[in-house]
Amino acid sequence: MVAFIKELVKTHGNTRESLLPILQKIVLREKYLSDEAMTEVARQLDLATAEVYGTATFYSFIDTKPKGENVIRICKTITCDMHGKNQIVKAIEDILKIKVGETTQNKKFSFLETNCLGWCHKGPVMLVNDEPYTELTPEKAKEIIGGMMKK
Ligand code: FES
Repeated sequence: MVAFIKELVKTHGNTRESLLPILQKIVLREKYLSDEAMTEVARQLDLATAEVYGTATFYSFIDTKPKGENVIRICKTITCDMHGKNQIVKAIEDILKIKVGETTQNKKFSFLETNCLGWCHKGPVMLVNDEPYTELTPEKAKEIIGGMMKK
């Protein structure tokens, strides 16, 4: 991890502006940002660990806890909310048998809420890993997740 972060610092530079791209690259490789990684980034960028932690936790896309193999993020922002996001949440909770914020026991799925994904005109919207699914209905959401459960 130390060497990987050193490499990222070499690529992005060691200024405050490099912090976010460095954190994103770590999450891309590791799937989440561990305490050790945050401490090491702080050390290499000469920042307070609290500042790194503050940045990491501000962005919902930077996970600071290990996640499942597939990450489902449902948009919780107003337009999706008004278009029935709660029914989608209920449908996904039912099929995965977990609540928002949790990971299934087999570590195959994590189910999270996120802010606007930029598809408001086609809400409700969820992102499964990097794939957006729009104009969701409870049935459609169940079908998508159900299909992934069989893999
Ligand atoms: S409000 Fe949900 S995508 Fe924008």
